[in-house]
Amino acid sequence: MTVVDLRECTEDFTADPYPYYERLRASGPVHRVRTKDVDEMWMVVGYEEARQALADPRLSKDWRVSDLWDKEAAHAVNSNMLEADPPHHTRLRKLVVREFTARRVEAMRPRVQQITDDLINSMTDKGSSSADLVDALAFPLPMTVICELLGVPDLDRDRFRVWSNEVVAPTGTEESAAAIEEMGGYLAELIEEKRRSPGEDLLSALIRTRDEGGDQLSPDELMGMAFLLLVAGHETTVNLISNGVRALLSHPEQLAALRADFDGLIDGAIEEMLRYDGPVETSTFRFAREPVELGGVTIPAGRLVLVALASGDRDPARFPEPDRFDIRRSAQGHLAFGHGIHFCLGAPLARLEGRIAVRTLLERCPDLALDPDGAPWEWAPGLLIRGVRKLPVRW
Ligand code: HEM
Repeated sequence: MTVVDLRECTEDFTADPYPYYERLRASGPVHRVRTKDVDEMWMVVGYEEARQALADPRLSKDWRVSDLWDKEAAHAVNSNMLEADPPHHTRLRKLVVREFTARRVEAMRPRVQQITDDLINSMTDKGSSSADLVDALAFPLPMTVICELLGVPDLDRDRFRVWSNEVVAPTGTEESAAAIEEMGGYLAELIEEKRRSPGEDLLSALIRTRDEGGDQLSPDELMGMAFLLLVAGHETTVNLISNGVRALLSHPEQLAALRADFDGLIDGAIEEMLRYDGPVETSTFRFAREPVELGGVTIPAGRLVLVALASGDRDPARFPEPDRFDIRRSAQGHLAFGHGIHFCLGAPLARLEGRIAVRTLLERCPDLALDPDGAPWEWAPGLLIRGVRKLPVRW
């Protein structure tokens, strides 16, 4: 089978990978690919095969079962549920799942609304009629929410943002190893601080918590949990808001329809934003524990597998006219939050934040538009995260 060389993918691919995925899908749902960092891995681009892969227990999330496990390079922050298989995964997820149920999250609505109102007030009160939407709203909203939930309101956000951006950038670089190291040290201090003066927050609860077997989260697991929730809690939602607003402002007829019927259309609009241009372009890595047949090819044991969620969500076999942004379509079943046991824990929270942010922004800024005089879009590098670092808008 020919190897598709993703190293040839230039900046055009980062800015708009969809035509490339379309060509790949046209020649098959599963491909052997080469990237800058990995000589040979497998990429799943078809919708049906993506769902199968995400639900296949033979595709492990536990680095420890692969030859690629490098004890030296491993860090405590890697002790998290997204890098674990059952039963370890089940145990870790169970400890926090009740905090993120739809009901629990709904109770956060007034606070999320208040944070959003405050952010939009400071954006519009500055006497200017333009701003970077990422800086003004898309980044600080999810960051504030997850920090309050965990009980770290004084988090050094600027430093955290730099590390976090680095962590989700292409793997294996020296910079990302250094960022993980620094972030780990910072989190260790934070946890120590919480131990000394616990509060009514999630991090304090996790420090106290005991699972059914009676044992507590180990220090590494605690660090891994804090790391995952903080990084997953904002690197993604920031791009739901900015990719979503970008899609709306580039499709005036869709924008007008939404403005005319927020109550009826906002929920569907957010789902379509997730399908059409979701924040997570590819899943995190999986490893074939044994040979796995998928989409007519056999992935050999020990190989890395990436599921291109963004490609599955544009598969015409599942979504008719997939390149059309249509907030009235049924986007149900999209893969933006993944699928299977690792389905995004924070999906209800991300949806709540997305709905409140987009609606409030449009209501408060009736003539919101992309700012053609703003800085050119700079895309997040790498395959994992899809979004722009800045989104200049005016009103
Ligand atoms: C629009 C925003 C979000 C998107 C698109 C998103 C997407 C995803 C995806 C695709 C996965 C699965 C990755 C894989 O299987 O390789 C995932 C897992 C996860 N997400 Fe999210 N996420 C978002 C927001 C959040 C938020 C707000 C939180 C936390 C508060 C969160 C916490 C998690 C956690 C803990 C996992 C791991 C679950 C597990 O391994 O069982 N996410 N997310």
